[in-house]
Amino acid sequence: MFVNTVILGAGAAGMMCAAHAGGDCLVVDHAKSPGEKIRISGGGRSNFTNLDVTPENYLSQNPHFCKSALARYSQWDFISLVDRHGISWHEKTLGQLFCDGSAKQIVAMLVEELTQAGAQLWLKTSVEKVRYEGGHYQLTLLRDGSPQRVSCANLVLATGGKSIPKMGATGLAYDIARQFDLPLIDTRPGLVPFTFPEGRFTTLAGTALPARLSNNRASFDEALLFTHRGLSGPAVLQLSSYWHEGEAITVNLIPQTDLFTLLRDQRQAQGRRALTTEIARHLPGRLVDFLTAEFAITGRLADQSDAALQALCDALQSWQLTPGGSEGYRTAEVTLGGIDTDALSSKTMQAKSQPGLFAIGEAVDVTGWLGGYNFQWAWASGHAAGQAI
Ligand code: FDA
Repeated sequence: MFVNTVILGAGAAGMMCAAHAGGDCLVVDHAKSPGEKIRISGGGRSNFTNLDVTPENYLSQNPHFCKSALARYSQWDFISLVDRHGISWHEKTLGQLFCDGSAKQIVAMLVEELTQAGAQLWLKTSVEKVRYEGGHYQLTLLRDGSPQRVSCANLVLATGGKSIPKMGATGLAYDIARQFDLPLIDTRPGLVPFTFPEGRFTTLAGTALPARLSNNRASFDEALLFTHRGLSGPAVLQLSSYWHEGEAITVNLIPQTDLFTLLRDQRQAQGRRALTTEIARHLPGRLVDFLTAEFAITGRLADQSDAALQALCDALQSWQLTPGGSEGYRTAEVTLGGIDTDALSSKTMQAKSQPGLFAIGEAVDVTGWLGGYNFQWAWASGHAAGQAI
């Protein structure tokens, strides 16, 4: 069978691409259902985009690459698509938009869009072999156990990254890219919790607070969550994308306060107050107990010299922690790195050196922050390729 376009991967980017690629298009996925990551995203409500999308919200070896696609298919375009389908939504926090109902509505919307565009969807179909011959891609597929040969003029790699192999994530896009000599940027897990040696934060598990997490590349003011295995919460997930194995991170537990001035004033006004009582005005009790032991905090405010107060501020506002590692691809929301953007046109997502080969979505070395940015990249890059086909 011949079709103009085969899209590998019926995820966010693949389905968006199919909706714009014109009718003669086949979308192939080895999963039983399309858009599984959309379905589970945002706790089942999908954080499908963000009101404030800028190129600064993305990591890539080439920070300019994402600009063109994001400008030509913006968050407002996706919001109007969602509105046209009568899906109600709300802003949760920091511009993050979620469905009022269920993420399944977004999946259903995309399936309807690609069906209306005339594309076919083959689920439970694996890719056995890809060859390029006579200006066409010859694919050997296994559809529900039976071999199928399909040739096409355009082949779109939309199988995503390596995150959550249990959900069917594979490195297929990278393998095919390699086969056609497209360069790859090393991959690593992103938006992922940090792990620490066993027992480090066990007594704090479940404690959450607003904090500032930073390193010399980035800084995020969001919630921090202590877990049995280490640190999680939005601030941690965000910083994890900017973190490399073995590096320390800085945790500011009381970020919005000039703590030194405040403690000095309190020493004057409430000198008899125990230091721990003063700290407990700013932090949850269990964390105060933990920090009291960690930094040997004792005595009354009046007993503290300026230097001692400064040392306490440093401990609470520049706490240096070195994660043992991260939870890895098992739970990472995204994969950093991937197909090198240098090999692709930023307007069309087509490979510069291989006619008719496109790469979109998470498979490409463009990774968004937490907050709907990864889906917006999937929609925008899928749209760019679809328009070009
Ligand atoms: P995606 O992973 O969506 O699709 C790839 C498709 O390819 C899948 O359907 C898969 O089955 C198929 N496939 C893979 N290998 C194959 C093979 N060998 N053969 C055939 N098919 C194959 N982002 C965001 O913006 N807001 C959010 O709320 C969330 N929430 C979230 C929660 C969780 C738990 C995760 C893991 C991730 C998120 N994300 C997110 C990230 C977001 O889901 C992700 O960036 C996009 O789904 C990427 O879209 P793609 O289409 O590139 O890949």
